Amino acid sequence: MKKQKIAVAYSGGLDTSVIVKWLQEKYGAEVITVTGDLGQKKELSGVPEKAYKTGAKKVYVQDLRDEFVEGYIFPALKAGALYEHSYPMATSLGRPLLAKALVQVARRERCTAVAHGCTGKGNDQVRFEASIAALAPDLKVLAPLRIWEFKSREEEIAYCERHGIPVSATKKSPYSIDENVWGTAIECGVLEDPMVEPPADAYQRTVSPQEAPEKPTYVTIEFKYGVPVALNGKRMKGFYIIDELNEIAGANGVGRLDLVENRLVGIKSREVYEAPGAVVLHFAHQELERLTLEKEVAHYKAKMAQDYATLVYNGLWFTPLRAAMDAFINDTQQTVNGLVKVKLYKGNVEIAGRTSPNSLYDTKLATYTQEDTFDHKASEGYIKIFSLPMKTFYQINLNGFAGRKRKINRKLKKRVSKVKY
Ligand code: ARG
Repeated sequence: MKKQKIAVAYSGGLDTSVIVKWLQEKYGAEVITVTGDLGQKKELSGVPEKAYKTGAKKVYVQDLRDEFVEGYIFPALKAGALYEHSYPMATSLGRPLLAKALVQVARRERCTAVAHGCTGKGNDQVRFEASIAALAPDLKVLAPLRIWEFKSREEEIAYCERHGIPVSATKKSPYSIDENVWGTAIECGVLEDPMVEPPADAYQRTVSPQEAPEKPTYVTIEFKYGVPVALNGKRMKGFYIIDELNEIAGANGVGRLDLVENRLVGIKSREVYEAPGAVVLHFAHQELERLTLEKEVAHYKAKMAQDYATLVYNGLWFTPLRAAMDAFINDTQQTVNGLVKVKLYKGNVEIAGRTSPNSLYDTKLATYTQEDTFDHKASEGYIKIFSLPMKTFYQINLNGFAGRKRKINRKLKKRVSKVKY
């Protein structure tokens, strides 16, 4: 039989380390590891050395930071996509890109299969496999965690020790942590009890609001076509804007989320997030949209934001629906240009000012001073017609006691009279 060649999505953590060895042992496979740099700080150092030590034949570490920001994070930011109204989806947005990188390596290396280290009860397995199905429908996908013999982390650690795989760093943390430039997700350990407040050591990149500075920090963000282009007056690439905002907002205790969320697989899970940059950018972007989007577009877009978030969360990034929604959203962003000033203070982000060349805020219409140009008289006829359907309903059903309608009307009257005025 031809030797199997498998590309593994590799983080260097416990599970993916075991996978590299396990695939060699189980299938006699030649293993190639693929690690994507999505701006995670801690995780990347020492990854190639560790992969080779674990037995990888070839090691890929790819800088995906700009592609992640421009092609995945910014579309979600423009969409206003927050899963269940809160979670900015650092993990959910990263997976389709990692799947894409994995597929590219698998093709280049003529692999017979790819493998990922996601568990059988999470969202990430869906995101990986759905993305691979879209990009390489013929490629076999292995999910060792769903089939292997290990029942606990301890067993995996013992396996590593038997095979000389370095695990010291992963052994210590009681949490499962996933991290990239858009945010950190922290679960497991004591966090599994939703009644337990996250202990201080659960947080990785934000200070507690209590320990944040006594003075607020002001930040300005400039947007062009719905994406941030400058921070505090400095033009920067998207990645560095997020990176710097993570530091500034994190130092003010901004961006902590403690959520019970609905996984695609039906489980409710408790997850703690830190997404300082994402929280500030979503907030600022929304404030700018308040100023620049036409009313009906704004209302319609807000509904789409929910669908967009659910679609991304559910691993359907590479769908024609997402592409179609992006086309709509990009169209709305043509006028989302301008400057937003926010105030960061002890865990809060507040609006401190906004301005835009496309601002629809018309002082002459809004003012209550003499400058007012609004046609007050026009309101009278407008309200008459606007309220006509309601007026007609009440006239016919409550006041128009026409013979045979009496019975129906009595019932209706009872119901309607319960309404408090
Ligand atoms: N619940 C988040 C999601 O599905 C994050 C999953 C990964 N979390 C982790 N702590 N390893 O997008």
